[in-house]
Amino acid sequence: MAEIKSKNYSIFISNDITKEINRFFKLSKTKYSKLFILVDENSLKHCYPQLVEKIEPFESAEIIEIDSGEESKTIEVCTQIWTALSEYGADRKSLFVNIGGGVIGDMGGFIASTFKRGIDFINIPTTLLSQVDASVGGKVGIDLNHLKNEIGVFNNPKAVFINSQFLNTLDKRQLLSGFAEIIKHGLIAEKSYWNTIKNADFSNLNTFDNLIETSVQIKNNIVSIDPTEQGMRKTLNFGHTIGHALETFSLEHSNKKHLLHGEAIAIGMICEAYLSHKICKLKKNELEEITSFIIANYKTVKIEEMDKHRLIELMKHDKKNDKGDINFSLLSEIGKCEINKTATADMIIDSLKYYSEQ
Ligand SMILES: NC(=O)c1ccc[n+]([C@@H]2O[C@H](COP(=O)([O-])OP(=O)(O)OC[C@H]3O[C@@H](n4cnc5c(N)ncnc54)[C@H](O)[C@@H]3O)[C@@H](O)[C@H]2O)c1
Ligand SMILES: [Zn+2]
Repeated sequence: MAEIKSKNYSIFISNDITKEINRFFKLSKTKYSKLFILVDENSLKHCYPQLVEKIEPFESAEIIEIDSGEESKTIEVCTQIWTALSEYGADRKSLFVNIGGGVIGDMGGFIASTFKRGIDFINIPTTLLSQVDASVGGKVGIDLNHLKNEIGVFNNPKAVFINSQFLNTLDKRQLLSGFAEIIKHGLIAEKSYWNTIKNADFSNLNTFDNLIETSVQIKNNIVSIDPTEQGMRKTLNFGHTIGHALETFSLEHSNKKHLLHGEAIAIGMICEAYLSHKICKLKKNELEEITSFIIANYKTVKIEEMDKHRLIELMKHDKKNDKGDINFSLLSEIGKCEINKTATADMIIDSLKYYSEQ
């Protein structure tokens, strides 16, 4: 068991999180009046049963189930859940429990943060992405039309409980999507971690225990220093300027089979490693090392010539920009990341070309 302490709460990583959750209830100063558990159909089927058997307060909790997927992360679904809470007589001593991936964590955290001006919540993330990324940093929120995470607040849960065994039922694409954030953590913060990642054996789920712990530690260190993204937290955006544009573009242009977040970020990291080489002196051999590792693990995607201008448009509209420049966090070497770098549209197009030539 590992306990990673953040400012006001702890993140517990264990193969027996029920023990930690029971301890949380035992030690909690607040005696919770009612519990509400938010799930989607997948976390209800695969994760909730393993917990309810061993956690007494969960037995009498109200279950609120939503449809899985990003499409649910809307104000309309929030309204339905706030209404349900109100009808069930939830009060300020109620506890909201999020069991699921990043959609459940982000939206459930937002609902809890705003219901009656805020009630306590805990997170039990069940996808690799939500365990290594969404579980830390206090960003909660929902989408507005197609704009991702446009509405939200910073607010931390009372505790986070992570069990890598939940990943057993997760499909390979989702696993790789979360793995992209792990790769990012190595690249921006710790060369030795990058070397561990390169040699990791994914066929063995236990491998993920160590990766999750190190990744959570890295993200937690960064967000503890800079919780509201004024400086250092921006390093976590490596791969995300181009990655987000690709993700939004694929959502705009496909009905169902769009790129997953981490799949888009993996491509974004190759392009931004190229920009790092051009702008931040990342050495050529390190650029090649990053490129070949990502290409070996992720399916390549064709980016059409005519789509590149729309991608630039999307990057210009990214909420992380200021003064109209397109902002990047780039590597000066593996393990070191610099923030507030800008690149011209031509350079960005070159980086997309570099990716397409692989
Ligand atoms: N708050 C943050 O800092 C932060 C960081 C990164 C991502 N996010 C958000 O997280 C979301 C993406 O997270 P995600 O990738 O976890 O998506 P998700 O919540 O949609 O989960 C992906 C899929 O896996 C299913 N699932 C969940 N747990 C499972 C399990 N154990 N076994 C089988 N299936 C399971 C879900 O039902 C869903 O179909 C996005 O909305 C993104 O904006 C937030
Ligand atoms: Zn991300």
